[in-house]
Amino acid sequence: MPNENSYEVALQKSNAIREGLAKTPEKFTMLTGDRPTGRLHLGHYFGTLKGRVELQNMGAKTNVLIADYQVITDRDTTEHIQDNVYNMVMDYLACGIDPDKTMIYAHSAVPAANQLMLPFLSLVSEAELARNPTVKAEMEASGHELTGLLLTYPVHQACDILFCKGNVVPVGRDQLPHIELTRTIARRFNNRYGKVFPEVEALLSETPLLPGLDGRKMSKSYGNAINISMTAEETAKRIKKSQTDSERMITFDPENRPGVSGLLSTAAICTGRSEVEIAEEIGMGGSGQLKKYVTEAVNEYFAPIRERRQRYENDLDYVKDVLHEGNRRASEIAEQTLAEVRDAMGMVY
Ligand code: TRP
Repeated sequence: MPNENSYEVALQKSNAIREGLAKTPEKFTMLTGDRPTGRLHLGHYFGTLKGRVELQNMGAKTNVLIADYQVITDRDTTEHIQDNVYNMVMDYLACGIDPDKTMIYAHSAVPAANQLMLPFLSLVSEAELARNPTVKAEMEASGHELTGLLLTYPVHQACDILFCKGNVVPVGRDQLPHIELTRTIARRFNNRYGKVFPEVEALLSETPLLPGLDGRKMSKSYGNAINISMTAEETAKRIKKSQTDSERMITFDPENRPGVSGLLSTAAICTGRSEVEIAEEIGMGGSGQLKKYVTEAVNEYFAPIRERRQRYENDLDYVKDVLHEGNRRASEIAEQTLAEVRDAMGMVY
């Protein structure tokens, strides 16, 4: 019997949710979010942003969170945070997130959602928090000590999801422990005080993880990512600088030729063709021709998105309005949920 919290079960449930969404999208409330630590890149776009826009346009209730408090889980500064937050809104809007349909808000602007943290913390044990594998991995990767916030941010993430009664959360595999914890918290709350919160399920991405240009995990710190916000010229430059190998014949072989294969995967996802097909077409053209092909594929795909983004860059007042309106709506919803929580707990005076 597979464990309720195994990846296989999560995948099955995710597929069931996908079917449900196609039939009755209005029954679903999606919430997902990003940490505003820098610009969003192609990995974000193909891994999650594109899917969010699809859910939004299908008619699910959609909410997108800019997780500013999570920035300080494993770093000691909020440098550039305002700029990162505004730019994140621009990325969202450029990619097709429509603020009339999707609520965009920031953690720190919704006090009532943050207040859920107190009752929720009482529902989990220190041991449960300490064995979260994603928290451990983040601590190791950042080299940061385990702060109280790093240890407990998965509980805060439960606040994110549950304040708006989210029941579907598009995430990558690394986030599954947090979804599991959210489900545990909702159940325990409902059992102890009466039903307030829904059952939450993860929606796993259907597209395989897009590697960086060098074949490694796509990451800002590796310099192997193309940002949505880059110009066509910046994109060309970044691709030109990426590491390939000395073999002229282009083949798709992620294990032995990570650079060439990372480039092929990037071209494949932008053109809808397969890596092998593109490799065969370029053949003896070598990495020069491959890079030219990738550059054109990326720039062509992102041209309309970047054109829209440019308009938002020139209209910061509009970007701020979108965020303020999202924050206002989120606060309204959070106040409502918090009132239900106080009521269930008998804290009504
Ligand atoms: N932890 C997520 C990440 O690192 C971001 C996030 C914050 C999130 N709150 C969330 C994702 C709620 C889904 C639901 O990418």
